[in-house]
Amino acid sequence: MKINLKKPNNEKDVLFIKINSSYTDEIIKENGVKTLYLKVDEKMNLRKLFLLIRKMVITAKGTKTEKICFDFSDFATCVRQDLTQTAEIIGSQLDFANYEFNDYKTKPKEGFNLIKEVYILNTNKEIEKSILKGHSIAEEVNKTRSLANTPGGDMTPQILAQKAKEAVKGLPVKVTVLGEKEMVKERMQGILSVGRGSDEESKFIIMEYKGLKDSKPIVLVGKGVTFDAGGINLKPSSSLLGMNMDMSGGAAVIHTMALVAKMKLNKNVIALIPSVENMTSGKSYRPGDVIRSMSGKTIEILNTDAEGRVILADALSYSQKYKPELVIDVATLTGAAAVALGERASAIFTEDDELSRAFEKAGEETGDYVWRLPLWEEYENEIKGSLGDFTNVHNKDSRYGGAIYAASFLHQFIKGTKWLHIDMAPRMTSMAGEYLAGGALGTPVRAIYRFIENN
Ligand code: BES
Ligand code: MN
Ligand code: ZN
Repeated sequence: MKINLKKPNNEKDVLFIKINSSYTDEIIKENGVKTLYLKVDEKMNLRKLFLLIRKMVITAKGTKTEKICFDFSDFATCVRQDLTQTAEIIGSQLDFANYEFNDYKTKPKEGFNLIKEVYILNTNKEIEKSILKGHSIAEEVNKTRSLANTPGGDMTPQILAQKAKEAVKGLPVKVTVLGEKEMVKERMQGILSVGRGSDEESKFIIMEYKGLKDSKPIVLVGKGVTFDAGGINLKPSSSLLGMNMDMSGGAAVIHTMALVAKMKLNKNVIALIPSVENMTSGKSYRPGDVIRSMSGKTIEILNTDAEGRVILADALSYSQKYKPELVIDVATLTGAAAVALGERASAIFTEDDELSRAFEKAGEETGDYVWRLPLWEEYENEIKGSLGDFTNVHNKDSRYGGAIYAASFLHQFIKGTKWLHIDMAPRMTSMAGEYLAGGALGTPVRAIYRFIENN
């Protein structure tokens, strides 16, 4: 999508958009010029602004228009918000809504139905800058979506590692990929055990960006399960579809790194992506196995489908090499997080109230909504092992609190470090009424980026 900060030359092939609370979403043609009269809520807020911009794009796409034009000040006046922030939101939400995953579709003769050009009126230099910044952010978010949407047959740990390199090509980010041999040396038996059932070699992807000398880095950790069949605890048919997206956390941190580097942030940021395929085979790890993780602590496997936390345990241990200021992990970790929250927010966990509030703010400002769940010590009783130190699921196989037990398990491997865990399973895919393409959402690239920028 091309953004023009001027009037269109030819008004006849452009859909003009006007907004007001008394409008009815009608399109009216006058003197050959089409205008969409878009209804806005009388009581506007930031959350509704995200939806409004996306609705505008989706409605325009429905008319097969390729060009749209609107007045920035119309949108700026309907919410009480910092102008540059509104501009950034407009810039990012336009592309966010325009996106479709068409990589596997044959191109129709008339081309895919996408908005190709946007004309935004009444801006100034500062607003322009923010609109274009939003545009860059959305570009990485949409790349995250495409990466996550890629079918499992075309997305292996090897390919994910390759994609990580491509994502930061030409940018000052160093990418190192550990294979299984190297992981044996590092004693990363958590990752190696989960990956053993697959014919594909497991990988550990390391991305390093140094934007500030001599400062402690933020380490981002992303779950990179390129397909989650469940392993020996094979998932039921209805749960297998979509498990190609179980590397969404990994995809998100890969493109957050690209964004951080593109924007030249004065921060040190590292990304770690443990990547495996969780498959069912004669080589798979088994229920009842006890694994010695990189930390030295042993994990008693009660369910091979709780694989994310096992690979993340090693990645969290590995993060300690960097003496990080903060570790943030992102994972499509539990269906239970969606049972708790519905599909509208990712679950976050941390012991640090200030960190939680700062991240909630970044989520509110970007539309990557999050909600905090508890990380109390009491929950640790239910992950005490009988053979090993910790069980990878509730030790009495309870139906309750699955997202919390997963978080509590991870906590055992990162105690003493400032840490935030994001269980993004609820937001892995879009839901109806969000004015977004089906499939992967690219969360929480925007929230993490904003958080790093603000803090
Ligand atoms: N990747 C899944 C979680 C998931 C499910 C993410 C649906 C997105 C949509 C994870 O590895 C998993 O299988 N979790 C199990 C945990 C259970 C065995 C304790 C789950 O949620 O059922
Ligand atoms: Mn699983
Ligand atoms: Zn999984």
